[in-house]
Amino acid sequence: MSITTCIFDAYGTLFDVSAAARQAAAEPEHAAFATHWDKVSADWRNKQLQYTWLRAITHNHTDFWQVTQEALDWSLQASGLENDTDLRRRLLQLYWELSAYPEVPEMLKTLKSQGLNTGILSNGSPDMLDGAVKSAGLSTWLDDVLSVESVGVFKPDSRVYDLVLKRFNCTADEVLFVSSNGWDVAGASGFGFQTVWVNRAAEPVDCLPHGPDHQLKNLTEITKIAGI
Ligand code: LAC
Repeated sequence: MSITTCIFDAYGTLFDVSAAARQAAAEPEHAAFATHWDKVSADWRNKQLQYTWLRAITHNHTDFWQVTQEALDWSLQASGLENDTDLRRRLLQLYWELSAYPEVPEMLKTLKSQGLNTGILSNGSPDMLDGAVKSAGLSTWLDDVLSVESVGVFKPDSRVYDLVLKRFNCTADEVLFVSSNGWDVAGASGFGFQTVWVNRAAEPVDCLPHGPDHQLKNLTEITKIAGI
């Protein structure tokens, strides 16, 4: 089936989640953070994802902004930074306006100019996603931004992937789903989407029941896989 609809994960795929800690560490008022930022950033992301999976399987949903704050609190504490309230405030502010990877605007523009449907499907809450999409200037090239909040459970629950079929009135095999998260790609492949794993760090494929149909180092060749 040819691709009609290209759907992107947000955090880590279109938006660089390490940008918040990296930028804070470069600011003179947070100079001491320069020796901690990479550990805090990795812990923050890992805990954020773990908390989404745990909340999903224990039926204890809260929105992604709450999870993001709780994961940051754990990560700051793990590095002995829990009393730095200015740093906490700044990191959360920067998370709201994460930069997109440099190839993103051109790639989305090409997909749209060829008549494909484009959208985001993310764990992010609608207001977080709105902030990130607007600050990265991507609104023009996206038909819609779908949040898990409309079903009240995180990925990889199949109800989340099903939002795409309802919104774009399409079948799963005409959707190209793109994510930098191997576990998200596994969920989407199992659902029946065609999938691309954006594997910037050259990691091994996750040992899960379903794997990616394609792997890329960045997003520049998405247009080729979409048949353009
Ligand atoms: C998202 C997370 C998983 O945007 O990165 O859904």
